[in-house]
Amino acid sequence: MMSQTVRIQNIAQHVGQTIIIKGWLYAKTGKGRLQFLQIRDGSGIVQGVMFKPNLPKEVFDAGKRLSQESSIIVTGTVKEDKRAKGIPKGYELDITDLKIVQVAEDYPITPKEHGIEFLMDNRHLWIRSRKQWAILRVRAVVMQSLRQWLHEHGYLEMSTPIFTPSVGEGTTTLFKTDYFGEPIYLAQTGQLYNEANIFSFGKVYCFGPTFRAEKSKTRRHMTEFWMLEPETAYQDLDGLMEMIEQIVSYTVAQCLERCQDELEILERDLTKLKQITLPFPRISYDEALEKLADIRNNIQDHELKKLLEIEWGSDFGSPHETELTKLYDKPVFVYGYPSQCTAFYMEPWDDRPEVSKSIDLLAPEGYGEIVGGSERISDPELLLERIRHDNLPEEAFKWYIELRKFGSVPHSGFGLGLGRTVAWICGVRHVRETNPYPRTLGRVYP
Ligand code: 4AD
Ligand code: MG
Repeated sequence: MMSQTVRIQNIAQHVGQTIIIKGWLYAKTGKGRLQFLQIRDGSGIVQGVMFKPNLPKEVFDAGKRLSQESSIIVTGTVKEDKRAKGIPKGYELDITDLKIVQVAEDYPITPKEHGIEFLMDNRHLWIRSRKQWAILRVRAVVMQSLRQWLHEHGYLEMSTPIFTPSVGEGTTTLFKTDYFGEPIYLAQTGQLYNEANIFSFGKVYCFGPTFRAEKSKTRRHMTEFWMLEPETAYQDLDGLMEMIEQIVSYTVAQCLERCQDELEILERDLTKLKQITLPFPRISYDEALEKLADIRNNIQDHELKKLLEIEWGSDFGSPHETELTKLYDKPVFVYGYPSQCTAFYMEPWDDRPEVSKSIDLLAPEGYGEIVGGSERISDPELLLERIRHDNLPEEAFKWYIELRKFGSVPHSGFGLGLGRTVAWICGVRHVRETNPYPRTLGRVYP
């Protein structure tokens, strides 16, 4: 009987059977008559044992000479072995046959340490490495969990355009391009279009790449990044915060349940993730400034003290966010930012027009802002005033203002940065490792 091709992730169901695995050689050790092949097939890694007497001589000899990343089709019998370190743990393959599809050339990424620029130049290969593989798998589970939560709560996924004539998030980070002789921008956000979509569907979201010409080279910024953006009719700021804490804690719980192997590869401290339960703390911008003043008073380091100086009206920089989040085990909401440092479309606070109904969610352990959101202006006159105040091209916002004339309602939404969220859940320092092919200041290759 022909053996069945099995993916390594399902190997537990085939103990005692002879199966086929189609994959690549990840690493090889052993000597003489006993060779250990680490075989990966994209879904996991299993150790295959080649014992000379069990294979035709020429097959054993060819297998012994195999180079890293050679493509192979392996036949073998699945054995349970508690000590086996594969992914999933606890299984081994007694190899009885081996077909070589291609002997790989000298592979540039070896187990030795490589510099980050070298690895980034080889990103198309680096994604095969265990740690990068784990991060990108967590990313996929995060994406799926976010969509799952939204689906279960009645949200409809909408596709919003990438080419857009209007400015979503400030003029300083726009990518301008040419549209048959006319200037056009790459979308910084899908929000404005979702604000139109809620009047048709009530609860919507978009999830796709967004673009910002960020000139800052930090561990939190990319020029192309994926953002999840839900928008909800008849939702106020409290409703918005409840929604965010639910979807974020659900997503973390899903990762804890479904990504155990990945988080282990990443050596993630799981106790930190298990603390991400409801509710998340909420502080106002004004309270945050007071806390920052306290922190400053207790710091000896002069440089940090200086970095943490801030006046009412300014947005937080990453040092402020980092110090604030050290006070909490969970993500913390900061609400009510000054209108002067927030986007034109944000609804002002009742009786306090200098403050906007805005929130940021700051992740613990120094990861900073992972979510930004707000209630949106629902009055067409006020919106027009804000557009003029910010010197934005009125013409491009005609349709957006019009939304407020046909059944305007209070509404709100948020944007969750996928890269930063995945970086936090995985415990990796830099967002570039959370994206398969990151675009950052100074890098668009490969
Ligand atoms: O706070 P931001 O700019 O909000 C918006 O774009 C709103 N239109 C969203 C909305 O309400 N629908 O961006 C939202 C999130 C940030 O909190 C951050 O996590 C992420 O997007 N983000 C970036 N991630 C990586 N690189 C960058 N350059 C980012 N800029 C923002
Ligand atoms: Mg923001």
